[in-house]
Amino acid sequence: MSATLLEVRGICRDFGALRANDNVSLGVGKGEILGLIGPNGAGKSTLFNMIAGAIAPSSGTITFEEHDITGAAPEARCRMGIARTFQVVRSFDSMSVVDNVMVGALLRDTNPRAARQAACEVLEFVELESRAEVPAVELTSPEKRRLELARALATRPKLLLLDEVMAGLTPTEARRGVELVRRIRQSGVTVIMVEHVMEIVMPLVDRVVVLDLGRLIASGSAAEVTNDPKVIAAYFGERRHA
Ligand SMILES: Nc1ncnc2c1ncn2[C@@H]1O[C@H](COP(=O)(O)OP(=O)(O)O)[C@@H](O)[C@H]1O
Ligand SMILES: [Mg+2]
Repeated sequence: MSATLLEVRGICRDFGALRANDNVSLGVGKGEILGLIGPNGAGKSTLFNMIAGAIAPSSGTITFEEHDITGAAPEARCRMGIARTFQVVRSFDSMSVVDNVMVGALLRDTNPRAARQAACEVLEFVELESRAEVPAVELTSPEKRRLELARALATRPKLLLLDEVMAGLTPTEARRGVELVRRIRQSGVTVIMVEHVMEIVMPLVDRVVVLDLGRLIASGSAAEVTNDPKVIAAYFGERRHA
């Protein structure tokens, strides 16, 4: 078993009367790909937002490489090696693709020339180098997803949080995305990926955790989780009629 990179303990997050995360605990080992699945509204993006530092937990702790980062600012976490993509793609539309990626690279290389070089290398890695000089607004939506990935990778993360990066892709594009996630892991990056569509994550992940209505309801291999009656009920909504 590899060393733990990230540990989430007893995390809760309330939005008014709604408990979006309810006592969630999970650990991620170095080099692992962890799948985080669950129906819409399960609390997956909320959990990502707390790991990345965009929102604070109502209670619970988060440690990264054994440092307590529960109260750390997003920038500090990014510097420590946590990067994320957003479910809704965010890019600086009027800036060129390479300049968008430089925004990430400048975290590690304050020298603009070096940052630009690093950005170009990442663009090659995500197979977007031919689009380096066009304004981001001109990218197709699958290209925009790869731009998001490139910007996150340019910060040289140890842990990459992918929030539904395959959503809306055609099967061919999704296969390309799966291949890219494999190469990201091979490069030494630990990955937590949220996907709503199980078929996409299952072949990729080492382990899966399932959230439903803010609670962690199952955890295990892809096969264990897909055969778990609690998970089947959550996906098919049986529990809601019980
Ligand atoms: N900023 C917010 N304010 C109020 N409610 C929120 C906010 N963010 C998320 N929620 C609610 O928390 C629940 C979990 O949302 P989310 O984490 O986005 O789920 P998922 O990503 O699994 O679809 C949902 O009911 C959602 O409406
Ligand atoms: Mg979400």
